[in-house]
Amino acid sequence: MHVNADLKVLYFGTPVVLISSRNADGTGNVAPMSSAWWLGQSAMLGMGNRSKTTENMLRERECVLNMVPSTMVDAVDLLAPLTGTDPVPERKAAKGYRFEADKFGAAGLTPQASEVVGAPRVLESPIQLECVVEQAHDFSGTSTAFEVRVVRAHIEERLLVPGTDYVDPVGWDPLIMKFCEFFGGAENLRPSTLASAWRMPHQGLVKAAAPIS
Ligand SMILES: Cc1cc2nc3c(=O)[nH]c(=O)nc-3n(C[C@H](O)[C@H](O)[C@H](O)COP(=O)(O)O)c2cc1C
Repeated sequence: MHVNADLKVLYFGTPVVLISSRNADGTGNVAPMSSAWWLGQSAMLGMGNRSKTTENMLRERECVLNMVPSTMVDAVDLLAPLTGTDPVPERKAAKGYRFEADKFGAAGLTPQASEVVGAPRVLESPIQLECVVEQAHDFSGTSTAFEVRVVRAHIEERLLVPGTDYVDPVGWDPLIMKFCEFFGGAENLRPSTLASAWRMPHQGLVKAAAPIS
């Protein structure tokens, strides 16, 4: 039986991204986010207007999307209470956020120069997507929806289907944020009709599914 509920949170489960941007003084900022969806070579990103990341992206029109495997969960959680905005906006301070100038250092992450954009990559991330901002839209008055286009993709070779430019879906175990909790452990459930329509090199995986060590 279904009941009507005034659902307080609609975070049903999305991969976590570490979004890096360049501060006005040339240093790097990095923040966890998960309001991201993808279409072709572009993504839509939802970022709160009180975040340093939003300020940086509106000014620089660039960012790097560093995809997060489940093994990087501790770094994500170390970043969770931090902001690069000083002073901390009142509403964020009330939630316990504190200012941190060196967020890479605070999370044990290493900034790595990008090839196309000014924002640094996160060295520890196995999939780094350099992006330019195509458009920025107001989203419900409190957030900005950024349309970004990937201009350079870097991926650890072990995550590619050998001899192709496709990510191996068995080897890639994304950190998932579901109702503010963290989940990992990618498991292939059944062969996919979509994968077969797209003629993916890994279609019909279930029998072969085994994580890459
Ligand atoms: C797992 C996780 C997912 C998050 N997703 C988002 C998001 O999609 N959009 C957003 O604006 N903030 C999101 N946040 C909160 C930001 O990380 C937070 O506002 C942070 O202070 C931003 O850093 P900045 O102010 O240095 O940019 C998320 C935080 C965590 C831990």
